Amino acid sequence: CSSRRRRASETCLSNENIRSFISENTEVVVGGSLTPEIKLRLFTPGCRFWRERPELWPFSDPYWAIYWPGGQALSRYILDNPDVCRDGSVLDLGSGCGASSIAAKLCGAVHVVANDIDPVAAVVTKLNCELNKVEPPDCVTDDIIGSDPARFDLILLGDMFYDEKLSDSLHKWLDRCVKSHGSKVLIGDPGRAQFEGHDIRKLLHPVAQFELPESVRQENYGLTSSHVWCYHSKL
Ligand SMILES: C[S@@+](CC[C@H](N)C(=O)[O-])C[C@H]1O[C@@H](n2cnc3c(N)ncnc32)[C@H](O)[C@@H]1O
Repeated sequence: CSSRRRRASETCLSNENIRSFISENTEVVVGGSLTPEIKLRLFTPGCRFWRERPELWPFSDPYWAIYWPGGQALSRYILDNPDVCRDGSVLDLGSGCGASSIAAKLCGAVHVVANDIDPVAAVVTKLNCELNKVEPPDCVTDDIIGSDPARFDLILLGDMFYDEKLSDSLHKWLDRCVKSHGSKVLIGDPGRAQFEGHDIRKLLHPVAQFELPESVRQENYGLTSSHVWCYHSKL
């Protein structure tokens, strides 16, 4: 399925149709992650597209259908330490299924922006908020990396360091966010090579480590734990 065809199908379907399609082709998952208190619509072996030919999938690759180990650690950390976002403004960059935004909402953040360049992720985030009975965050689908950073007290990145070029752009942009607004940055990552070997790693200090549940280990071959890091730029 070409990216042009995918984009066409995304724009032709109304948000209501995307919601129905997502509801039919995902399952509500409770438990099995580091944050069993957050319910999410995800891909499971019971879903049609788990087995179906990939070319029949009408959208871009559904990163939002997986609760990534980096996002799990980040959300767990927030739920265990609600003061990091209470009464503050939070940007969840690369929000995927929206779990970290939901965690921030549950912990009393006053303004949450879930940013993901995949418009389907925005629809799914709203569905997941309904499941968890929280007000949806502002869902933004523009690529904001590289733009003039808006002021946020806290920026969350769950499993965003999986690609070298993206990691380079994130590094530069996060540096600007910290220098211009003093934003606190928390990164969840399960020890991916692109993260461990990146220059940004030298500017981070560890704040938490979680052992991954067995089912998450099985889905993420070779990963056993996931970490939360805090970004310290030299101001
Ligand atoms: C590995 S997933 C992580 C999702 C979620 N944070 C989690 O941990 O479950 C990465 C997400 O980043 C999004 N993404 C990729 N490039 C992006 C960009 N430039 N700006 C915003 N989101 C982006 C993808 O669409 C995807 O949903």
